[in-house]
Amino acid sequence: MEERIQNIKNEAMAQILGAESVAELEELRIKYLGRKGAINELVKEIPNLLPEKKGFMGRLVNEARSIIENTLSDKKVELESKKAKTTWFDPTIPGIKPPIGHLHILTQAKEEIAGIFEKIGFVRVRYPEVEWDWFAFESLNMPKQHPARDEWETFFVDSATNPKYGQMVLTPHTSSGQVREMERSKKPPIRMVNIAKCYRRQSDVSHTPMFHQFEGLVVDAGINIVNLKGTLDYFARQFFGAQRKTRLRPYHFQFTEPSFEVDISCGICNGAAHSTSSGQGCKLCKAGWLELGGAGMVHPTVLKNGGIDPKKYSGFAFGWGVERTYMMKSGLQIGDIRTLYSADLRFLKQF
Ligand code: PHE
Repeated sequence: MEERIQNIKNEAMAQILGAESVAELEELRIKYLGRKGAINELVKEIPNLLPEKKGFMGRLVNEARSIIENTLSDKKVELESKKAKTTWFDPTIPGIKPPIGHLHILTQAKEEIAGIFEKIGFVRVRYPEVEWDWFAFESLNMPKQHPARDEWETFFVDSATNPKYGQMVLTPHTSSGQVREMERSKKPPIRMVNIAKCYRRQSDVSHTPMFHQFEGLVVDAGINIVNLKGTLDYFARQFFGAQRKTRLRPYHFQFTEPSFEVDISCGICNGAAHSTSSGQGCKLCKAGWLELGGAGMVHPTVLKNGGIDPKKYSGFAFGWGVERTYMMKSGLQIGDIRTLYSADLRFLKQF
């Protein structure tokens, strides 16, 4: 046995000293020192030896083990320092920054819009994206079969019909939160801002089937158009810049009376339309104004549907597209609005 111990030790040393890589050393370590390695096989034989030989052989095996261990670790240091010498390291080169994500451009826009309205006491609310027909249409003065519904190219959900609330739809506009908010708050004053996903069956360069709107609703005693105009002007100044103004154009919605479309003065020609310095017409707008979205005084039927007495209270509401409004602010000229949701990092990283 003594001779075998010597042989294993010598063979191990020769192989370790001739190794050319750290990986090779690891293989040798397993071969000799591993659980089923050559040294352990020797250890297993010791209990069968004559009692007077046990101590001696045990010592020889342990000696062999520690010589192999030391040779392995010395060789490892040698191989590693060789490797380090061949790869040149310059500690003055700036490091590589790990990529850090950021909020999507639309999330940033929603936060900014919410912040502007919260400053003047509006409360941000959320209502269902999958909504009853009642809240999306019927309670907003659009009975079934009413042609005004055509404007909201609605996705209907296959679901059981509720006797009062009708069918389920993917909410096509944030106005579906109006009657819900009246029911929630029960008694005016109401100052809500509802920013939410909306769905319509449209997909082309200027429409995505899912988009966002923000809706303002104020109901209280004596609310009138001046309050609406003042709120819109405040938003325009905060969001677009101190110079900007809004104007109201007569329009029609079933759930507001009177109804308006809201325009904002063009940021390039400042409402002057044709008198830019070059003497030519403004490139961005047609007549000095850009269209933002709908607004109006809440229709008495809508107030009644929300359990509010229209003889005591009045209100205004407005609802605009977040994507459209944000693009007008930054002067972003996006050829295809669907790019916003394409998850293309080359585009998203710019914001
Ligand atoms: N909900 C309307 C739309 O989607 C906008 C609107 C909201 C109009 C509130 C008037 C009042 O076009």
